Amino acid sequence: MRVLVSGGAGYIGSHTVLSLLASGHDVVVVDDFSNAKPSVIGRLEALSGKHVPVHAIDLTDAEKTERLFDHERFDAVVHFAGFKAVGESVAKPLAYYRNNLDSTLSLLEAMRRHDVQRLVFSSSATVYGEHAPVPYSEDYEHLSSSSPYGQTKVMIERIMSDVAAATEGLRVALLRYFNPVGAHPSGQIGEDPQGIPNNLMPFIAQVAVGRRERLTVFGDDYDTADGTCERDYLHVEDLAAGHVAALEHLDSMVTPVRAFNLGTGTGTSVLAMLHAFERAVGRELPYEVGPRRAGDLPAFWADPTRANTELGWRAEKSIDDMCADTWRWQQANPQGFPDA
Ligand code: WQD
Repeated sequence: MRVLVSGGAGYIGSHTVLSLLASGHDVVVVDDFSNAKPSVIGRLEALSGKHVPVHAIDLTDAEKTERLFDHERFDAVVHFAGFKAVGESVAKPLAYYRNNLDSTLSLLEAMRRHDVQRLVFSSSATVYGEHAPVPYSEDYEHLSSSSPYGQTKVMIERIMSDVAAATEGLRVALLRYFNPVGAHPSGQIGEDPQGIPNNLMPFIAQVAVGRRERLTVFGDDYDTADGTCERDYLHVEDLAAGHVAALEHLDSMVTPVRAFNLGTGTGTSVLAMLHAFERAVGRELPYEVGPRRAGDLPAFWADPTRANTELGWRAEKSIDDMCADTWRWQQANPQGFPDA
């Protein structure tokens, strides 16, 4: 299929572009490069040996989005583009609602006008909110999130569900990610957060490469095995494969829209992840225990049964794979992607 990947220069988007190309699909990337560097595209072309057409467009501009669909034919869309920093979304809710919702609405309108009927959406486990029983199941219906970022995911899932119900032939997969980490085994692409990393894995990697002095563990007094929070960490390569599986499942999907958890079904603590990274690096890494971070839940992980059985997808890579691949990327790119 010829697939438009929005946000295709981003962390998960770039890994998914490689997986789509490796699976024989043609890919066109649209990205506004607000949170990714153009140099990612050259890496993707070098790794895939294929040309990756790119359109630097702000998808909140409905006219430019429409013109993109006028000039190119797409069989499907994989929609990653959006702001994704939880803390930033609390400080800038309007920017998050405007960007994440308007870009989605522009895409959906262009898809309708051009009869593009296959859509995979980058959603998040954050939609389960604070009260869902663990492991999280797609059958849980009381979706909500404590952050404006998470609320945009809840709202977009609802928008896509309503549009799918009203559009004969449209098929939509909503992929609820747990905690994506890791990097392509080549070490040529990986997670490259701008500024101080919010997330655990890139922060640990920057400590290991000498960009940060030490990790602060946000609380060790939770009701968990070692007192630190537990999460379902998922290798980005497994996550990318999940997108290809979902895209190729759409034709056979009987319902117009369906959510799928993409996770391993296993929780790993902060300290366990830190020690796994130390094994990858071959030395101890400095850390201190600090206060809890507001909004953190003690522990959650996925029930991945639906993706396992309906998509034929299963996470294969281990925590040690995640750390080894992250470390290879960070060592080869201490400052992340080059600017030019
Ligand atoms: C994991 C654990 C922290 C940094 C977030 C978003 C979620 C999704 C994935 C987009 C927590 C602890 C972290 C640090 C630490 N993003 N930690 N020191 O919060 O589970 O999920 O990213 O969809 O929406 O909420 O991931 O990596 O930020 O934190 O101790 O310097 O690591 O307290 O327990 P989180 P995270």
